[in-house]
Amino acid sequence: MYNRDESLSDPPRKAFLLGLHLKGDSAIEVEEHLAELAELTTSAGVEVVGHDIQRRPTPHPATFIGSGKAEAAAAAAKELGADVLIFDDDLTASQVKNLEKIAELQVMDRSSLILEIFNQRARTREARTQVELAQLRYTLPRLTRMWKHLSRQGGGIGVRGGEGEKQIEADRRILRQRIGRLERDLQKIEKTRAVQRHSRRDVLSVALAGYTNAGKTTLFNQLTKADEKAKNQLFATLDARLRKGALGPGRIAVFADTVGFIRKLPHHLVSSFRSTLEEATAADLVLHVIDRSHPAWEDQAAVAEEVLADLGVEAERILRVYNKADRLHQEGGPSADGIWISALSGDGLDDLRDAILHRAEALGQPVDPPWPEAVQQRIDAAEAALAEDL
Ligand code: GTP
Repeated sequence: MYNRDESLSDPPRKAFLLGLHLKGDSAIEVEEHLAELAELTTSAGVEVVGHDIQRRPTPHPATFIGSGKAEAAAAAAKELGADVLIFDDDLTASQVKNLEKIAELQVMDRSSLILEIFNQRARTREARTQVELAQLRYTLPRLTRMWKHLSRQGGGIGVRGGEGEKQIEADRRILRQRIGRLERDLQKIEKTRAVQRHSRRDVLSVALAGYTNAGKTTLFNQLTKADEKAKNQLFATLDARLRKGALGPGRIAVFADTVGFIRKLPHHLVSSFRSTLEEATAADLVLHVIDRSHPAWEDQAAVAEEVLADLGVEAERILRVYNKADRLHQEGGPSADGIWISALSGDGLDDLRDAILHRAEALGQPVDPPWPEAVQQRIDAAEAALAEDL
């Protein structure tokens, strides 16, 4: 038997992935989404040993995929040594319970996998608070559904209806209290960030946003000459990091690196990361970093731009940055709707700096003359305060 509380990466686990091809879905997209689920799984430190896709007109209400398919997939998974089944879509609490009963393996969905990765990566107080909030927001409605499920059956195994109801009610109350507490903590963090932003008001602020693994951290490091290593793993960055970088002689901007976006990112996750994403919302300019070498780059760019629009970032404030040009043997430089660069080699970065200055001027942001000493001191103080707070 598996232990539900065991970490996914220690000891190393093996996963079998499952996707559903619904009526009207494109086969290529279903495959691509599953390939991305495989990347996410690897990123969580779990080995992918196999996968399967079922065609159905609609999801099965009790078991998501058909119960016969679930049995067959479980047998195949066990044969390959898997100890967890991971589904590409969100499952209800009763679907997880039913599937675990059929498969005798742990069952997870895409959201709980993303939350697990976030949990592994969260380092700062802000990131940890955000992740815990997202986890509780994910759990709360599932408790409710479980409660409905129990009460419909007149009580679960070994639980009389009334007792189960009381227990779930108590659990829900505790979860709500904790959620309230975390929300207040995050409000405080947001306030601190707002004060710090205000102290940097005379300085151009540039946020880097984009799909996970697009190369934001690599570009951030190049623009700010930081030496933290970019990791080839999804969601290496969870908190917004701020650092100043030069755009030209005597011209500087404050750059913010933000959490990566991903398809099917549940809404509660986006809202839990608001204090981090606020740096993008409040920035004068947002560099939308796109991994142009990725086969699904257009789709990824559309997902990221949808999230940015939801956050209230207007199109005029977004500059598209087509990254990983080296992989396509493309030279860095401006194109009709953005700038080609290689954040890895540094190709095209001077064009990007020029484009940032150009855009900032068009938006009426002061970039010249050089920043007075007083502004510099405020930036340093704000950065120091943020580092301390987190
Ligand atoms: P998240 O934290 O997941 O949001 O990722 P990110 O967007 O910050 O990406 P990151 O900078 O961590 O880069 C992801 C991977 O892409 C790393 O292995 C980088 O070395 C690689 N990479 C980044 N830029 C380039 C580039 O211009 N060319 C090539 N070939 N690889 C790049």
